[in-house]
Amino acid sequence: MKSAFITGITGQDGSYLAEFLLKKNYTVHGLKRRTSTFNTKRIDHIYQDPSISNRNLILHHGDLLDASSLNNIISKIKPDEIYNLAAQSHVAVSFEQPEYTANADALGTVRILEAIKNFNLIKKTKFYQASTSEMFGNISEKKLDENSIFKPISPYGVSKLFSYWITKNYRDSYGIFASNGILFNHESPRRGETFVTQKIVTALVKIKFNLQSCLYLGNLYAKRDWGHAKDYIVAIWKILQHKKADDFCIATGNNYSIKEFIEEVLKYLDIKIIWKGKGLSEVGINKKNNKIIIAIDKRYMRPNDINSLIGDSAKAKRELNWNPKVKFEELICEMVKLQIDIYKK
Ligand code: NAP
Ligand code: GDD
Repeated sequence: MKSAFITGITGQDGSYLAEFLLKKNYTVHGLKRRTSTFNTKRIDHIYQDPSISNRNLILHHGDLLDASSLNNIISKIKPDEIYNLAAQSHVAVSFEQPEYTANADALGTVRILEAIKNFNLIKKTKFYQASTSEMFGNISEKKLDENSIFKPISPYGVSKLFSYWITKNYRDSYGIFASNGILFNHESPRRGETFVTQKIVTALVKIKFNLQSCLYLGNLYAKRDWGHAKDYIVAIWKILQHKKADDFCIATGNNYSIKEFIEEVLKYLDIKIIWKGKGLSEVGINKKNNKIIIAIDKRYMRPNDINSLIGDSAKAKRELNWNPKVKFEELICEMVKLQIDIYKK
């Protein structure tokens, strides 16, 4: 039976990956931060009480900023696979907390790689790093792949780029099976509420049920290549099962603007919108009652933003036999349906 250690198990991807690995009969260890309120909502359905004998899901308190907790856990469990999914993952927040972001998203990765090296786990433990399309920044290439250049434009992207390179560096210098998945945006009903897709879905469903009057957003013209998290964690797992350590772009190959995402959600909710105005004055008006339901708030504009991201995952298709399954419309439908169920209750 294989064992895996997931940092970020309480997050969107970590929760799906834990479910997936449990189904594959892994013993799953997860890193959990101590918080004053529960942060295990996404994994409560698979939680196993410590009193259960032979449990195969075990949570450990720790933090990416705390090498001693990482060392204690890794040296004790000696996992076959480590999935480093934990991060300060919000790009806008990284402009407000650049130092913390660098500590978690850059140095956190070295702390784990050092533990693999120093506890003689080089031959045993494979390492996956959650790299990101945010590392590309605003480069002009149409479809981005493993050979595209990186020019990150946020503290988050810069920190993640350090982790990308240090992962390659420990692979080349010490022979650790260490791989990067360069994942483009992926969403799900478990997406955090402050990322744009979930923010839009939640607010528009509330507006539909008269529980909110207006949704305030930032840049409506950015384009993202949105896939489904459930598809992407299959790719993450396949990357560590590949015959050699390597780096892979994971994307759908299609992108849409924030405005197009909004329009698709509204289609589902049967609300017709008229767009008026420009820049900070742009608004979306509900055709039925003439009320403004979408407006711009400059607080949500970032000091720098990527205009467009679209990925090419041909290498993953060729070498990992991986393909995204869920289409843009299906993803939105799933996210909206869940919110409708919540608010109907
Ligand atoms: P997420 O939902 O924000 O989850 C982040 C996880 O990291 C949470 O479990 C969080 O714990 C944990 N965490 C944050 N800071 C930590 C620290 N200092 N020590 C220990 N744990 C910490 O993110 P996600 O969407 O699942 O993404 C997973 C990973 O993939 C992240 O590294 C992200 O940067 C990267 N990524 C995501 C996407 C995407 O579109 N989703 C695309 C490319 C790359 P709490 O629950 O306690 O907050
Ligand atoms: N969050 C947010 N909130 N974004 C907004 C808003 C808003 O009110 N209004 C417009 N946007 C725009 C952002 O400016 C950005 O261009 C786009 O919506 C997507 O924002 P997010 O959903 O926050 O995602 P992200 O692309 O910045 O980052 C996500 O994807 C990365 C991969 O490319 C995160 O999951 C990162 O962790 C991940 O690495």
